[in-house]
Amino acid sequence: MSNKRIWITGASSGIGSELALQLASVGHTVVCSARGEDKLQALALQAAESSGEIIPMAYDVTEDSKTAFVTEQLKSLVGGLDMMIICAGRCEYVDNAKLETDLFRRVYDVNVFGAVNATTAALPLLEESAANADRSREVGKPQIVAIASLSAVTGLPRAEAYGSSKAAMIYLFNTLRLDLQKRIDVTVVNPGFVATEMTKQNDFPMPFMMQPAEAAECIIKGVAKRKLTVNFPLRLWLSLKLPSLIPAVWYRWLGPRLVRPENGQQQP
Ligand SMILES: NC(=O)c1ccc[n+]([C@@H]2O[C@H](COP(=O)([O-])OP(=O)(O)OC[C@H]3O[C@@H](n4cnc5c(N)ncnc54)[C@H](OP(=O)(O)O)[C@@H]3O)[C@@H](O)[C@H]2O)c1
Repeated sequence: MSNKRIWITGASSGIGSELALQLASVGHTVVCSARGEDKLQALALQAAESSGEIIPMAYDVTEDSKTAFVTEQLKSLVGGLDMMIICAGRCEYVDNAKLETDLFRRVYDVNVFGAVNATTAALPLLEESAANADRSREVGKPQIVAIASLSAVTGLPRAEAYGSSKAAMIYLFNTLRLDLQKRIDVTVVNPGFVATEMTKQNDFPMPFMMQPAEAAECIIKGVAKRKLTVNFPLRLWLSLKLPSLIPAVWYRWLGPRLVRPENGQQQP
């Protein structure tokens, strides 16, 4: 197994920390970022128990001015990058169609501008790896992995901010894939419901809920195949995708059933 240098944002809990542990356990060197440094240190210790290497690097992805510093920090920690996984995310719901600019700004700051900031920090190192492809390391083309969401497949109640931020992410990374195609592969990942801190706030049914370990396995498998898009679980993807192909079916018939009379609902 080749040893890739991987950077994960949003790695202090949930899907990100599980990805970090699984990738470290098979020999990759994983730099883990989030705002909470204590959790990152604990994760590094947990990985070390099974001889995995996780290197904590505290970083708030909303700090626009830090990107050049982060590039240097990554370079000094691991010398370069073969993969980045953008997992930092924030979910807030809109109640009763009351759109608040501040709420949108908080969600977009992490999910959209945070993704732009982290990618800006990693790109010089990924480009460098692509240019100096060292065949003996057998790591292949560098990769960008963006964790979006199945919530962006179609309109869902209360997901005006979160779902649209994930839709923006999908467009952003699909487009970046075209512009980087010769040098860097891009995989967009759309998970359904995963049992993490993020979904703890959900007080509505979450069909086909997965555990973080299972979600991380799906992501790692899809990324190893260099898939363009990884959607899971299949049953939830089909339940959202098929009706979305006939908008009248979703928006006039199925979608309205998800809206609770008094307050909102939904959300992968
Ligand atoms: N759980 C689901 O059902 C589900 C479904 C679809 C997509 N997703 C996506 O999967 C990703 C991981 O979510 P999760 O479910 O694992 O949730 P989680 O356990 O709440 O993890 C979110 C991670 O993002 C980090 N983060 C938040 N704001 C940040 C910031 N400003 N800068 C850097 N890191 C930040 C958090 O750490 P700190 O708070 O310490 O910074 C944490 O490590 C998110 O992008 C989410 O949208 C989740």
